Amino acid sequence: MTTELRLGIAGLGTVGMGVLRILREQAGLIESRTGRRITARAVSARNRDKDRGAPLDGLAWEDDPAALAARDDVDLVIEVMGGHEGAARDTVLAAIAAGKDVVTANKALLAHHGHALALAAENAGCVIRYEAAVAGGIPVIKALTEGLAANRITRVMGVMNGTCNYILTRMEATGQGYNALFDECERLGYLEADPNLDVGGIDAAHKLSILSAIAFGTRVDFDAVETEGITAITLEDIRRAGDMGYRIKLLGVAQMTGRGLEQRMSPCLVPAHSPLGQLEGGTNMVVIEGDAVGQIVLQGPGAGAGPTASAVMADVIDIARGIRLPTFGQPATTLREARPARAAVAAPYYLRLMLLDKPGALAKVARILGDEGVSIDRMRQYGHDNTAAPVLIVTHKTTRTALDAAIAAFGNSDVVSGTPVALRIEAV
Ligand SMILES: NC(=O)c1ccc[n+]([C@@H]2O[C@H](COP(=O)([O-])OP(=O)(O)OC[C@H]3O[C@@H](n4cnc5c(N)ncnc54)[C@H](OP(=O)(O)O)[C@@H]3O)[C@@H](O)[C@H]2O)c1
Repeated sequence: MTTELRLGIAGLGTVGMGVLRILREQAGLIESRTGRRITARAVSARNRDKDRGAPLDGLAWEDDPAALAARDDVDLVIEVMGGHEGAARDTVLAAIAAGKDVVTANKALLAHHGHALALAAENAGCVIRYEAAVAGGIPVIKALTEGLAANRITRVMGVMNGTCNYILTRMEATGQGYNALFDECERLGYLEADPNLDVGGIDAAHKLSILSAIAFGTRVDFDAVETEGITAITLEDIRRAGDMGYRIKLLGVAQMTGRGLEQRMSPCLVPAHSPLGQLEGGTNMVVIEGDAVGQIVLQGPGAGAGPTASAVMADVIDIARGIRLPTFGQPATTLREARPARAAVAAPYYLRLMLLDKPGALAKVARILGDEGVSIDRMRQYGHDNTAAPVLIVTHKTTRTALDAAIAAFGNSDVVSGTPVALRIEAV
């Protein structure tokens, strides 16, 4: 193939400018690897007058990003604006309607509309690629759709929001509380415009729902991801978990169970010595388990101009090479609608509660747990603070339903104060 591949880029922020930079600096290398010249022809963003730190000479400008798709000099549309409605969705649909391939970094768009977009693209004979949408620079989409295509995937796990991992690991390293670290992230520009997307676990849940679809051949179902953020995690939990050999991570887990597809994004304890336990700062890690391959661990930068643009350009290069895969690794019409299963797989849990200083209090807690079928593996009581003492319990494997029933019963007892913290201990 010798024809030029001409790009229209919608969005000139961190990712869009990163893509232009790679195109400028690596033009020769990319041409030698694909046999084609790949050039940016037209761009779009909200503010034409903004200084973007690099020249946009020679690039046509469109005020309306969807208009990029209609241009005769654009073969492929790169959507790097963000948001799951409005301009991003309109632009991708306009590109498909014009018969053009799409590369996007937009996990929110795919989590909410992935199935409909995949059907539309396949009907029109177009491809949608989105390596950058999950775990930034880590080639995890390629690993699942190509490298592991011969495996029945049993579980996908990962730390996929660098900001949350930064906050949790900095809390542990500096002894500062959640609020101080949240403010630090705000100063450093690590948070999304709506911070709840990060700390509420939503951004990471978007990514998990995309990985689930590929791994299990199911339609993306973001609404079925049980999502809990890191805002309730205290320094005390981090320290107590550490005392028992664990670290707390905002961990995504997807697995197909006898009761349906379990997808959860929540703070979990993982062994401190495991690869996930050792993950520091803003780095991402995805762990994939397949029946033939066993376990593989992918680690790398989950955000930033360079890593994200690297992933966007990998998709562009695949398309330039003529590689055309279905959006979620198999034809969209064959993706099944999965039955959602809530924490179907039993696991040990970490439970922290405040025990009131009363005779027989601990025995009463043990009895309530026993009544719900929850058995205790380890227990520790810490020093009293006037009337109450923190108690840590590690349970044997149990279900979240049984644990929630016990927690509800604590509320009606006269020996536990406040709401206990319950975190799943994930076997990694
Ligand atoms: N940043 C990362 O590290 C990273 C990592 C992985 C995935 N992503 C994803 O990549 C996408 C882009 O992220 P980003 O960090 O580059 O965002 P960003 O820095 O906020 O840039 C967004 C760009 O889109 C333009 N834009 C927004 N709404 C528009 C509209 N209605 N019409 C035309 N242009 C519009 C903005 O224009 P103006 O500049 O004129 O305002 C801006 O240039 C998002 O989906 C994000 O989730 C980002």
